Parts: sequence; C-alpha cells; structure tokens
Amino acid sequence: MGMDRRPEDMTRITTAELADAFIEEQIGALREQIGDRKVLLALSGGVDSSVVAALLIRAVGDQLTCVHVNHGLLRKGEPEQVIAVFRDQMKANLIYVDATDRFLNKLAGVSDPEKKRKIIGGEFIEVFAEEARKLDGIEFLAQGTIWPDILESEKGIKAHHNAGGLPEDMKFELVEPVKILFKDEVRVVGERLGLPSNMVYRQPFPGPGLGVRCPGAITRDRLEAVRESDAILREEFEKNGLAGKVWQYFTVVPEFQSTGIRDGRRTFEWAVIIRAVNTKDAMTAEVENIPFELMQHLVKRITSEVAGVNRVLYDFTPKPSGTIEFE
Ligand code: XMP
Repeated sequence: MGMDRRPEDMTRITTAELADAFIEEQIGALREQIGDRKVLLALSGGVDSSVVAALLIRAVGDQLTCVHVNHGLLRKGEPEQVIAVFRDQMKANLIYVDATDRFLNKLAGVSDPEKKRKIIGGEFIEVFAEEARKLDGIEFLAQGTIWPDILESEKGIKAHHNAGGLPEDMKFELVEPVKILFKDEVRVVGERLGLPSNMVYRQPFPGPGLGVRCPGAITRDRLEAVRESDAILREEFEKNGLAGKVWQYFTVVPEFQSTGIRDGRRTFEWAVIIRAVNTKDAMTAEVENIPFELMQHLVKRITSEVAGVNRVLYDFTPKPSGTIEFE
C-alpha cells in the first residue's frame, strides 16, 4: 500500500525522471493494494481524477471502472474529451452518464446559490451511487485526493473526500494514489502518463460548474449562452497567448436583459460578463489587463455568434470586494 503522509524530505516532483519514478512506485503499490479485485472511480475530467484514472489504467487495466457523470454544467467539449482520452485512447472501462435533464429539472426555479450547490452535489452522489449499484464485486473507490486537501481537512477548512457522502451501505476501501502530491506535481505526473496538456494544465473549474456562472435560477438558454461564450473566450485566450498566463477566466450570464439593435431591429437580450483574474491562492485576486483590441474582438464574436446575447461587459472587480465566481 502507498504512503499515507508526504515525507518531510520528499523532493518536489518537477522533472520527467522524478515523475517516472513516482509512477513506477505507485503502479507497484496499487497492484499490491488491489490485487485482482475491482476499483471504481468518479472521473470528472479534472486534473486530479484524470491522473488517478491514468495511473490505475496502467496498474490494473480493466479492473478499473470509471464513471463520468455529465451534469449538464460542464464546459463545451469536456464530456467528449473524457470519452476520447479515456475510452478511445486509453481503452478504459468508462461508463458515461448524461444526466443533464435530471440535474436541470431539479435546478429549475432554484435561485439560492447554496441550494443550487446542494442540489448539484446531492444529485451527483445519487447518480454515481446508482451506477455503482449496477456493478458487481467492486471493493475499492479511487479518489483524486491531493496533499493540500489532506492538510486543509486536518485544519478543518474543508472535507477532503471528493466523492464522500455515499450512502451508508456502500462501503469501499479507498485508493488515493496522488494523496501525497501537490497540484503542480500531479500535473507533471499527468503529462508523463500521456494525458493531453490542455487537460493537465487546465484552469480551476468549480464542481458546480457553469451552474454558478448562471446566477439565480438556471435556464437552458442562459446556460447555453454561458457555454458558448466561454468556449469563444477560451479559444481567443489560447490564440493570444493568455491561456497559460491568466489564472482563471470565464464568462457569466446574469439574469437581466437589455435593449439592443440588430439588423435595424430592436432586440431585448442577455449580457455576457467576461471575468479574467490572477491569484496565487484564490484568497485574493487581481483583474487581468486584457488588450483593448482583443476585448473588441471578443465583443464582436460573442454578440454575433452566441444566440440571445446583445451586450458584453468586463468585470474590473478584484477580490475583495468581489469573489472570483459570481455566486
Ligand atoms: P471564489 O468565488 O470563492 O472562488 O473567490 C475561489 C476559487 O474556488 C473556486 N470555487 C469552487 N470550487 N466548488 C469548487 O469546487 C465550488 O462550489 C466553488 N466555488 C468557487 C473558484 O472557481 C475559484 O477558483
């Protein structure tokens, strides 16, 4: 079995050689822990769960079953990438669940931010547990817990179990192969495992996904506007060399419409807010200085390509007084 705590004198994994050594060691430890038994993993497509999946595929192959729950609040192209990388390339046992309607129906008319988060978190566990019950003989649950999660849960800041909260009767032994690593180390390991760099170096993305970028009650038209405008923003940031430089960037579509004009006709449509911030620890954040020409280009693309949008605004608010997300 792998190490429980990060040794005080452990060398930071910054090179391919160190990552390869970690991978070899973990494969051995995973094979020893799991033997010929079966493992289940909730694979979100985020850095940590993706690296855990890739490690387990190397170590125990098809004894691993991954479940990817699409809650309908993922960014454009994300579920497709999870399927392409894990099912098509790595030949993983992947169960893909499109639970979009289920989540959106539960969320309909709910405007309180905490209630929205609770519904999304609760529904996620329910969908995952339903899938787990359909499988026979699973003894292990793999999780992408990392070292800061353990430190924070020890300090009482947050509960670290990503897929925690499963029903009482579902008892699994945990498999946490990256739990002694810092985030930057997980990324180096992920690269060496052959994961695409846009997956390994992607910006932080909240568990409740685009749901918190559709403030108030989520509607399908605003959600689509968030998803499409976010895809345009990401594409333009990549083209203009800002993708690796800016810590977090995204769009928000608030619950108000305003008057505009298109092809000589009056419109009454949504506004897209662009947010781009830099931070070290997400406790405070500064606004990125986006070149004016790029901003003009973004406005043009978003207002002409995204249905139901006639205005684009930029959020100049640092944290504090704003938070990074809108709710
Ligand atoms: P705020 O908005 O609090 O965000 O300034 C700080 C960082 O945390 C992320 N965030 C979340 N991540 N679940 C998550 O997994 C959440 O409910 C959540 N809310 C905020 C946010 O994207 C930013 O990186």
